[in-house]
Parts: sequence; structure tokens; C-alpha cells
Amino acid sequence: MIRLAAVQFTPQLGEPEANIEAIGKLLDPVEVDVIVLPELCTSGYFFESRDELAPVAEAPGGRASSFFQRLAEAKQAIIIAGLAEVAGGCFYNSVFVFRPGIPEPLIYRKSHLFYKERFVFEPGDTGFPVIRDERLDISIGIMLCYDWRFPEVSRVLALGGAELIACPSNLVTDAWRKVMPARAIENKLYVAVANRCGTETRGEETLLFKGCSAVYDPWGEMIALAGAEGDRVLISEIDPQPCRDKSFNEFNDIFADRRPELYGALCRPQP
Ligand code: ACM
Repeated sequence: MIRLAAVQFTPQLGEPEANIEAIGKLLDPVEVDVIVLPELCTSGYFFESRDELAPVAEAPGGRASSFFQRLAEAKQAIIIAGLAEVAGGCFYNSVFVFRPGIPEPLIYRKSHLFYKERFVFEPGDTGFPVIRDERLDISIGIMLCYDWRFPEVSRVLALGGAELIACPSNLVTDAWRKVMPARAIENKLYVAVANRCGTETRGEETLLFKGCSAVYDPWGEMIALAGAEGDRVLISEIDPQPCRDKSFNEFNDIFADRRPELYGALCRPQP
């Protein structure tokens, strides 16, 4: 069994030092194998310009990156954290994956930008990574928040071998709560959504982040749930083994039964 922590955490906008310290305190007593933190967890979310984002954006070796790498080594845990990334003069809404014994984080850049993110971030160019960890014997696929609205993402990750999908999030609707259990069922894998709560106000506009972080098992059952408010570490035990057999009765297997030769064709009106 693998011990998984989905962390609900509310950052302060533009205060990476304070956020890193608060995350450190929250994680101090946590002893698990895999830790999933929310989207943009050290910077906050609602940036209005690149000038404002620049001082809090990270490159590997930056302050948040170094902190999480040290924590991954100390806890011998995989840490999956949403961070604002700067690379080649561009900004990305990214997920950094820190692994003990591997000094460089793996980076996933958000493919589907939500709402006003397009004014500060570039669309991601990394594709969808699945990380194989031999020590823990698990494969972890990465998506980021609004990616959930695209069923292709979880399918691509599942076909890539993911047994757990980690989804750092800053969700402002509730619709995902109907959808994520379906993503778990149709791909027969675990889904961990680490969301934030609280609000951010810029000018006249306030965003309310909805909390309710959750973990779903390969049958779509919720095995951990946080409230709509409050920072929390949700701990679950997960077993990747059932995710490796995609059958659900003696005749049907959700991967073997696929008809990919039909999926590329556009639907045509029948005469
Ligand atoms: C979102 O992608 N932050 C909803």
C-alpha cells in the first residue's frame, strides 16, 4: 500500500516566503510516500500582469524548488506541487514533481489555461507526463486543475500507464466533483484532487476557491474528502494493483474494448 497525502492549502497572494513556511508547518508531521499540493501553492493565483508574477515565479533551483527538493529527500516522498514557473523569459502555470535522489524536478506546464490565466501564462508545451517510480512501484500521471474538463487528458495519462492521477487545483466551480469520479471509473485508476480554499480580490473581482479536496478510488468511490474551507492534509492508502487489470467482468476490459480506429472520424449527419 502507498500512503498518499492530498493537501488543501490556502496561500497568500504574492507571499512565497510566508506560503513556504506555512506549507512546511502543515507537512511537518506528515509521513507518507506521495504528497500532492494545490496549483500555484507558493504564489497564490490571481495575477493581473507578468510584472506582478515575475518576482514569485520559479525556475528549478529557486527558493520553492529547493525547499521542496529538500523536503522530498528528508521525507523520502514524491512531492507534486503547482508552482508559477519562469523559463526563457516566459511564464507557465506548472506542476513540479520532486523525487528523492533525483535533483532536477520533472515539470508539467498547464495545457489548458483557465479564464484570465492567458494574460500572464503561456499555454503548456510539455504534453502529459506519467512518472514511473520503481521504489514505490507506482506510475503517477499529472494534470493541472482546468485540464479536468478535457477527458482526453485523463485517457492519455491512463494509456501512458498512470495508476494515480495527481491534479493540483485552484477550482472555483463545483462541476468537477461530478466529473472526477467518472474519470477514475472510466480509466480504472485513482484520482487525487488537491484544491485550495479562500478568496482573492483584484479590483472589483473576487474569486472564491472551493476546497473540498478529494481522492477517488478506481471504482469512483470517494476515499477522502476535505471541507469547503480550512487547510487540511487528507491521508489515504492506495493500492496500484487493481489499476493494472482494466477488466470489470469476464468479457469486458476498458482498454481492450476500445475502438480507436473509430475515434478519429468526425461524426457525419446520416442521409
Ligand atoms: C483553474 O484551472 N484554476 C480552474
